Amino acid sequence: MVDTFITFEGPDGAGKTSVLTALIPQLAAHLTRPVHLTREPGGAQISEKIRELILDPENTAMDARTEALLYAASRRQHLREVIVPALDAGEVVVCDRFVDSSVAYQGAGRQIGEQAVLEMNQFATDGIQPGLTLYLDVPSEIGLARIAAHRTSRQFDRLDQESLAFHQRVRAAYLRLAQQEPERIHTIDATQPMAQVVADCLATLQHFLTDSWQSR
Ligand code: TYD
Repeated sequence: MVDTFITFEGPDGAGKTSVLTALIPQLAAHLTRPVHLTREPGGAQISEKIRELILDPENTAMDARTEALLYAASRRQHLREVIVPALDAGEVVVCDRFVDSSVAYQGAGRQIGEQAVLEMNQFATDGIQPGLTLYLDVPSEIGLARIAAHRTSRQFDRLDQESLAFHQRVRAAYLRLAQQEPERIHTIDATQPMAQVVADCLATLQHFLTDSWQSR
């Protein structure tokens, strides 16, 4: 567990990307250390190439385990090339999605087994875990309705096209993870107005990062 390694998780339509865009400048203004925002799948050149492969809507023939292995491969490269060096340099690393995404989407969503996916990812990450995970929770119907409402402005990727049942399995897995690891995973109600979601995230981060926090 690394104290300055923070991840954001959530089902599709939780608003993670918008929340992070609003949150990061506010977080940076409070911290005495640099903040490094990165994302999965991707975050490094090789990892971005793997991302294109995984999310390409044309790759309908991709086997579920192939997909899980590609996410893990992308994650390892990102970890070695970007996350670990940034942590070693004393930065606070905020990563949009990490191992929990694979456990929820591949393990539960694609039904290849949460434990198997977790173990494969432990190999890929040398067991490196975030100190804090903010889980933005939203019921599947609301998440999918948000995506549908933004359909014209947001490209639909292969995973967004999955059925409601898939998204419900993903959310159920996240809720199980949050229950199993209450110390690490903090659940934020992402059905609230965006400003409130951002404020809740910031309050949780302040509590966790007290040693690097300065009041303004
Ligand atoms: P992205 O466009 O980054 O969406 P979001 O803003 O919701 O994070 O696409 C990421 C998609 O990849 C998303 O549907 C979740 C999925 N995903 C997995 O299935 N497994 C994983 O391990 C990761 C990191 C992402």
